[in-house]
Amino acid sequence: MTHRAGTETLPDQLLRLGETSRIGAAVVPPCRPQNLGDCEFRRSHGLKYAYAGGSMANGIASLALAEALAREGMLAFFGSAGLQPEAVESAIAEARSRLDGLPIGFNIINSPNEPNLEAAVIDLYLRREVRLIEASAYLDLSLPLVRYRVKGIRRLASGEVESANRVAAKVSRVEVAGRFMSPPPEALLRELAASGEISPEAARMAEALPMADDVTAEADSGGHTDNRPAITLLPTLIALRDRLQEKHRFARPVRVGAAGGISTPAAAAAAFAMGAAYVMTGSVNQACVESGTSDAVRAMLAAAGQADVAMAPAADMFEMGVKVQVLKRGTLFAMRAGRLYELYRAHESLEAIPAPQRAVLERDYFRAPCEDIWRRTREYFLRRDPAQAERGEREPKHRMALVFRWYLGQASRWANAGEPTRQADYQVWCGPAMGAFNEWAKGSFLEDPAERRAAVVAGNLLAGAAYLTRVHSLRCQGVSVDPAAAGFAPRRAEQLRKLLC
Ligand SMILES: Cc1cc2nc3c(=O)[nH]c(=O)nc-3n(C[C@H](O)[C@H](O)[C@H](O)COP(=O)(O)O)c2cc1C
Repeated sequence: MTHRAGTETLPDQLLRLGETSRIGAAVVPPCRPQNLGDCEFRRSHGLKYAYAGGSMANGIASLALAEALAREGMLAFFGSAGLQPEAVESAIAEARSRLDGLPIGFNIINSPNEPNLEAAVIDLYLRREVRLIEASAYLDLSLPLVRYRVKGIRRLASGEVESANRVAAKVSRVEVAGRFMSPPPEALLRELAASGEISPEAARMAEALPMADDVTAEADSGGHTDNRPAITLLPTLIALRDRLQEKHRFARPVRVGAAGGISTPAAAAAAFAMGAAYVMTGSVNQACVESGTSDAVRAMLAAAGQADVAMAPAADMFEMGVKVQVLKRGTLFAMRAGRLYELYRAHESLEAIPAPQRAVLERDYFRAPCEDIWRRTREYFLRRDPAQAERGEREPKHRMALVFRWYLGQASRWANAGEPTRQADYQVWCGPAMGAFNEWAKGSFLEDPAERRAAVVAGNLLAGAAYLTRVHSLRCQGVSVDPAAAGFAPRRAEQLRKLLC
């Protein structure tokens, strides 16, 4: 049944997001998109909305993407991972002229294989006064990360301790979340103080400050993920935050946001209803025109269903058996990368791989003899990290890992460049959120990859979440809502403007 008040339909009434609506005996309170989430998150980052676009490596989270979101009062993290410090430095300079003071953050990714790179990027962030970073894929806190946090520490006139260097940590494990929700470890503070990196006074002040201002609960997502369900991970991390806040009594409690699977108004509404301070998206932003990937990948993403994703070995932590979630449909990457990992586990060297299997690798995967790939890989590491090249010379198993990692690394470059001869090898990080988005967008203008604009997608998720929250409120009062009124279909930018004001 459709409820009417005068000539207005129920959806018309519920779309007055900022008003109290009287529908029969029910009263639906206002729910403005700008009130969703935690106001401290918005205030502290200078945002209108509690919405963030997560980092996406190799500049897939591009400056164009960050700008599109920042201009609408949302946050984005530039995808620094996989880029050399010089490229990140240019991005910082360009961001400053392009965004003119609007909020933006940069990524630091845990790189156990390349500790020097992590330290160099942190040095860069400190030198260029980058005041907000997204720290991800950490299993434990590292010295450079603690250094970044504590370098910006100060005591305000009120006596409160804060750091100018804000950290948003992305985690999928409870024990890692706990480290970011606690003060920096004493041992690392001592080490930094002993080396003169920080003063003893700064080390003391740091005991009153959590490692992160924001902790994003990363559920089943694109890229690095533990495939946790958001519906279980988020409440657990919020409860953990509450316990640690009671213990440490920080002046500003750590905020907990939600990522992984958020690509529809329903998912955003659910995350906010569960207490998320903010929502973070990834997969859906890669599908947008501003992302740093290719049109070929955007077309593949637009065809993805929810089950068209798979876990595949990660290039950066290949030897440790770490996996990332990738697109399965339209590419053989997940299967091929998985095969490489099996071969790596089963053999001690490239030479030990039986000839027929090696021939398949050389013909289909590498399109070159293993020796050629090793030569190219060695040259690359001699420039970037000579210790790796030398270890590869000495240790046949490590040489095999580096050759296999060459393939994994190239596979994402081919995807980003839209290399037509390598479509079967594209590595496209992607989670089930992509299929959920496609399903929601079906039949609307957003079905077309060329229409997918990050700010329009984000605006739809927020306005839709506010609308669905009002629908939910109606249901909570015992009103049965017609399915035609209970959903939120994609709106174009002009229509959204009215809802978002
Ligand atoms: C293409 C792609 C690349 C990503 N690269 C990174 C990265 O370099 N650093 C990072 O912290 N997160 C990375 N992520 C994770 C996103 O920032 C975000 O947390 C995640 O995608 C949210 O889940 P969703 O994919 O379900 O929306 C990546 C995700 C995708 C889809």
